[in-house]
Amino acid sequence: MTRYMVTAALPYANGPIHIGHLAGCYLPADIFVRYMRLKGEDVLFICGSDEHGVPITIKAEEMKKTPQEIVDYYHDIMEKSFKAFGVNFDNFSKTSLPLHHKNAQEFFTILNEKKYISKKTEKQYYCEKCKRFLPDRYVEGVCPLCKSEGSRGDQCDACGKVMENVSLIDPKCKLCGSAPVIKDTEHFYLDLDKFQDKLKEYLTGKTWWKENVREYSLGWLKEGLRPRAITRDIDWGVKVPIEGYDGKVLYVWFDAPIGYISSTMEYFNRLNKKDEWKKWWTDPNTKLIHFLGKDNIVFHAVIWPAMLMGVGGYNLPYDIPANEYLNLEGKKLSTSRNWAVWLDDYLTRYKPDILRYALASTLPENKDTDFSWNDFQQRNNGELADIYGNFINRTIQFIIKYNDGKVSADPNLNEQDAEFLKLIENKIKIIGDSIESYSIRKASYEFMDIAREANKYFTVQEPWVLGKKDKDRLNTVLYVCMKAVTALACAGDPFIPFSSKELRDFLGIDKFKWDEIMKIEPSENISGKTLGILFSKIEDSVIEEEKKRLGKKMDAGQTEESAEISIDDFKKVALVVARVLKAEKVKGADKLLKLSLDLGGENREIVAGVALHYSPEDLENKKIVIVKNLKPAKLRGITSQGMLLAASNKDKTRVKILFPDESCEAGDTIG
Ligand code: 2FM
Ligand code: ZN
Repeated sequence: MTRYMVTAALPYANGPIHIGHLAGCYLPADIFVRYMRLKGEDVLFICGSDEHGVPITIKAEEMKKTPQEIVDYYHDIMEKSFKAFGVNFDNFSKTSLPLHHKNAQEFFTILNEKKYISKKTEKQYYCEKCKRFLPDRYVEGVCPLCKSEGSRGDQCDACGKVMENVSLIDPKCKLCGSAPVIKDTEHFYLDLDKFQDKLKEYLTGKTWWKENVREYSLGWLKEGLRPRAITRDIDWGVKVPIEGYDGKVLYVWFDAPIGYISSTMEYFNRLNKKDEWKKWWTDPNTKLIHFLGKDNIVFHAVIWPAMLMGVGGYNLPYDIPANEYLNLEGKKLSTSRNWAVWLDDYLTRYKPDILRYALASTLPENKDTDFSWNDFQQRNNGELADIYGNFINRTIQFIIKYNDGKVSADPNLNEQDAEFLKLIENKIKIIGDSIESYSIRKASYEFMDIAREANKYFTVQEPWVLGKKDKDRLNTVLYVCMKAVTALACAGDPFIPFSSKELRDFLGIDKFKWDEIMKIEPSENISGKTLGILFSKIEDSVIEEEKKRLGKKMDAGQTEESAEISIDDFKKVALVVARVLKAEKVKGADKLLKLSLDLGGENREIVAGVALHYSPEDLENKKIVIVKNLKPAKLRGITSQGMLLAASNKDKTRVKILFPDESCEAGDTIG
């Protein structure tokens, strides 16, 4: 029996997840895994945060934190938001774990012993002002290949090409902006040239790979592989396991893919099945599938297989379904300019399923695609609400209102009914085949098409007319409609898992198999049950707000916040001291605390986004300052009547509530 070891690229723990990450690999991987599990396949879905390398140390320097503080903070945010988005990894590990350091060092040692690693003195940028070498992203300049600006020392974001050493035009130190000099430094190299022939044979044989992935990888071999530096002059990362090389660590791209193995080991260690990981990495019956974005192709299709070949005994990647890039409102995503939609932020306002479906419909599978808020609105209003939700709702409401909640157990299907049910069955098969070939856009289209066809069936059969003249026929038509509702509840699971589960709970469907969806018989009575609204319409004004958010920096000093206001403007803000009577977590919202306050004779409730920084016990009985006359806002169903004052840094990793002097009393005004 085939086993599937599925990985999604380990995201750098230097920021939250955004829609570009989701479209690049996490959503397609999750859809694939959900489907394969429903097919009854044996699947393990592994990920974790990539916690080494220059992306992390730069972030730590910017935020005046230690790299460990940074990665711990973002690891948590990423893990929580993946979960809330329904991306169900079996394990989400971290590469800063000792287990992983040991594995990466072992890889290095074996490759070194087998003479696949050599030492060389190379030229490297060095900043005389900062007194340090500038590996990878520490230096920026003009790409020598595509000539775009802001290209990094290791890889160009614009053309995706991996950079030759010290080849940037007009390089600048990322930390201080000065022009670096070039100095010699000694590094370890992976002798990729020794794998040239084996890699060629390996890649040539992968006829089932996406063409862009295979062509791009083979393109690398054309010029003849050269040894690549696998160590760096920084002090954050996996130490080089050889004496005398203090201050040098393994290059992040050397240790990161080994993180997939470490994450698998961590998972099985936790289950007390210490050796089980081997089955997933060395057994020839296991297919290793790496989901990733296009900038990661060469590392997974050329360098990583070479490492695995060199160490020996491991399976090589069976497939690498890499996606292209997702743009946003016609422009390239940019985290520094905040031209992005952040998952954790998105989830505070909308259901995960809407974004899952909107993204699935526009995944950059073969070329770059665009996400726009208007399209998001249209996918929700015009498809999820008007087609999918509408069909389910009209069927269920009709049965409850006009058929006493009864669904026939003994339908009398005519040719049209049988044809319609066959069509659904075919579509379920097409959805499955499409997912298996990573055509998830097509799969999501076919899924919605079931609902489209079902609406047509409903309209053509006119159950509202049948009710009056042909009760038997009505029962059959409603039975067929319920079969379609059942199909949507099951076949929707990979795309919109939360709504599908809600619907299956309503229908009383527990576990099911993909190939047997059409065998599920609808329950005979649905009276007395209620199904909440699965998707409600999103207003134009809400979408306009989202568009306005794009590109706005969150930090004070760069927004309108720095505009001058008059004293009268300031006086409009009623600031008062309040005492916290009770603080509690808000269910389903990791960031929120509900605070019951005493304002000196008046009690109020507010909802504050401080739960990642304070526990309820930290706040009870404390005095805080709130804006009293803020327009009430509803957050997770709770009306918040005010806002507390807190200080924070740019990325909100450090949030400190302002506690007034203890001698202040609840109700005291400020100003
Ligand atoms: O591009 C990235 O975000 C990398 N952190 C991906 C690493 S994938 C794997 F090798 F770990
Ligand atoms: Zn510098």
